[in-house]
Amino acid sequence: MKILILGSGGREYSIARAILNEKEAHELFFMPGNGATNSLGTNLNIKDYNDLALYAKENGIELTIVGPEAPLVEGVVDIFKVHGLTIFGPSKEAAKLEGSKVYMKNFLAKYSIPTARYIETSSIEDAFKFADTLSAPIVVKADGLCGGKGVIIAQNHDEAKVAISEMLSGKSFGDAGLKVIVEEFLDGYELSMFAVCDGDDYILLPAAQDHKRLKDNDEGPNTGGMGAYAPTPLVDEALYQKVRDRIIRPTLDGMKKEGAPFEGVLFIGIMVVNGEPITLEFNVRFGDPECEILMPLMTSSVSDMFYKAATNRLGEIKVEFSNQYAVGVVMASANYPYSSSTPAEIIVDDVHHEAIQKYTHISYAGVSMVDGVLYADGGRVLVCVGIGDSIKEARDRAYMRCGQVHFAGKKLRTDIAYQAL
Ligand SMILES: Nc1ncnc2c1ncn2[C@@H]1O[C@H](COP(=O)(O)OP(=O)(O)O)[C@@H](O)[C@H]1O
Ligand SMILES: [Mg+2]
Repeated sequence: MKILILGSGGREYSIARAILNEKEAHELFFMPGNGATNSLGTNLNIKDYNDLALYAKENGIELTIVGPEAPLVEGVVDIFKVHGLTIFGPSKEAAKLEGSKVYMKNFLAKYSIPTARYIETSSIEDAFKFADTLSAPIVVKADGLCGGKGVIIAQNHDEAKVAISEMLSGKSFGDAGLKVIVEEFLDGYELSMFAVCDGDDYILLPAAQDHKRLKDNDEGPNTGGMGAYAPTPLVDEALYQKVRDRIIRPTLDGMKKEGAPFEGVLFIGIMVVNGEPITLEFNVRFGDPECEILMPLMTSSVSDMFYKAATNRLGEIKVEFSNQYAVGVVMASANYPYSSSTPAEIIVDDVHHEAIQKYTHISYAGVSMVDGVLYADGGRVLVCVGIGDSIKEARDRAYMRCGQVHFAGKKLRTDIAYQAL
């Protein structure tokens, strides 16, 4: 198959890598891709979605897979479908589950899907009044996309009120903050689950845990994610079943009733409180770096799963997973997450150790290629992934691989998957 992948991160690299490992041969295109994806296929530079759809048609692209949220929220799926193309991802309307927290919370409330008690409002007085009914900490969220920075966990009522005022005045997040959610704080442990959906049916992937903070022991600023592992032993069959019955099924049924059937990856942020899964939020695409550790755990065809999901035929296939574990450790540039870094050459040692060769690999993200040399380009540069029969084995292997990757200013956490060890 000829397949186009939208995005430029480690997430998209890992999807491509999984597809190229399948038995059948595929030809890959990326828009825009990164400095390493052009060794897996062809990087394109066509920013306009109509032009891109025309290119896809002219070049016989049979499937397009969308990695990041921005093109989804901008409606790329609707545009490709108008051109009669097969594309995996939610419509602009369905992508509101991520694009607007107000839409998402009201949807959860309407269909009685468990979530934190909340108010959505653009009135300062109403937000203050509701905050006064909660005990600290208090959670304040901006409505729109804020690049993972739109949520404030206020430690007391004064802090909550400052956050509310600054969001509603447009000072913190511009238009994305002109409506806010104020909600109760949930005390528990956090999980991510991913369901590949075709509007009616879905495949639930193994549950993952990520590591948002920059530094060991969950210290330092929030990042896009510094590592992840799956499956997590914190989830048993009973918890999976609760997530299926109480969250995923009613969400798919509800979105159909809303006239926006959900097709794509439903990423469920879950807080487990006293053994009960509560929905923190939805995203409408894979997490990064969660995708990098879930793709290598899939033993059946990844491209077929996405193709069947995009053509409403998921019910026809059986998706299989390995019974091993995967751990992914992110290596980031010197100034991440604050500012850009000077490009630095990446040197990866030759691998002689058989276990490292067989059970580890690298998913490349923030890299560029200049004259055949790979450079770390800032942000999250790459993810070292280890596979093993236990989390410890997978983690040891991932870190062995990290030891073979060098670039000036590289930084990484040393405690990925600590929750499970
Ligand atoms: N009600 C809540 N109780 C406790 N922690 C929360 C709550 N809502 C969000 N958080 C924390 O804040 C993080 C970010 O919130 P989330 O709703 O996922 O927004 P986003 O990912 O868009 O920034 C969550 O991963 C979680 O750690
Ligand atoms: Mg989140």
